[in-house]
Amino acid sequence: MLSQSLQDSLNEQIKNEFYSAHVYLSMSSWFDDKGLPGFAKWMRVQYQEELAHGLKIFDFINDRDGRALVLGFDAPPSDWKSPLDVFEDSYSHEQKVTAMINALYAQAQQEPDYATLVLMQWFISEQVEEEKSAKLIVDQLKLAGDSASAILILDRELGARTRGPDSEGDAS
Ligand code: FEO
Repeated sequence: MLSQSLQDSLNEQIKNEFYSAHVYLSMSSWFDDKGLPGFAKWMRVQYQEELAHGLKIFDFINDRDGRALVLGFDAPPSDWKSPLDVFEDSYSHEQKVTAMINALYAQAQQEPDYATLVLMQWFISEQVEEEKSAKLIVDQLKLAGDSASAILILDRELGARTRGPDSEGDAS
């Protein structure tokens, strides 16, 4: 069974993951409004992945005879200056999430709670991917600069993104 303090921290992280989902949904809407459906689709897939992250922790708490909570959070930002501004925001957001996951890992290590450590190892690897993909697009948008044709090519590429095997919301 989970300790109360670890359960509280995991419930906070469910909230953080669902907040992340709303950040990406808001970004998706921004891109859609700018006539960039590929970027919008990429963000929509990211929204689904964040929901799955939240549900993964949600199910874990209940599987451990705990009580997962649905906590409220503030509205996400809704406006950005440019596609680069959006992805720079996304990259720094993921870096903050990585710090949250690392703090959860450290808490589980201190108790110790081995099952939470295993779960957090999955999230630590996931964060490497999350930061990598956001940073790659930041770099590509910097290369594209003000070139509309380069942005449109990138839009087409990003529109090919589909949901990955780890985004189904199960704990596998
Ligand atoms: Fe669930 Fe993008 O971290």
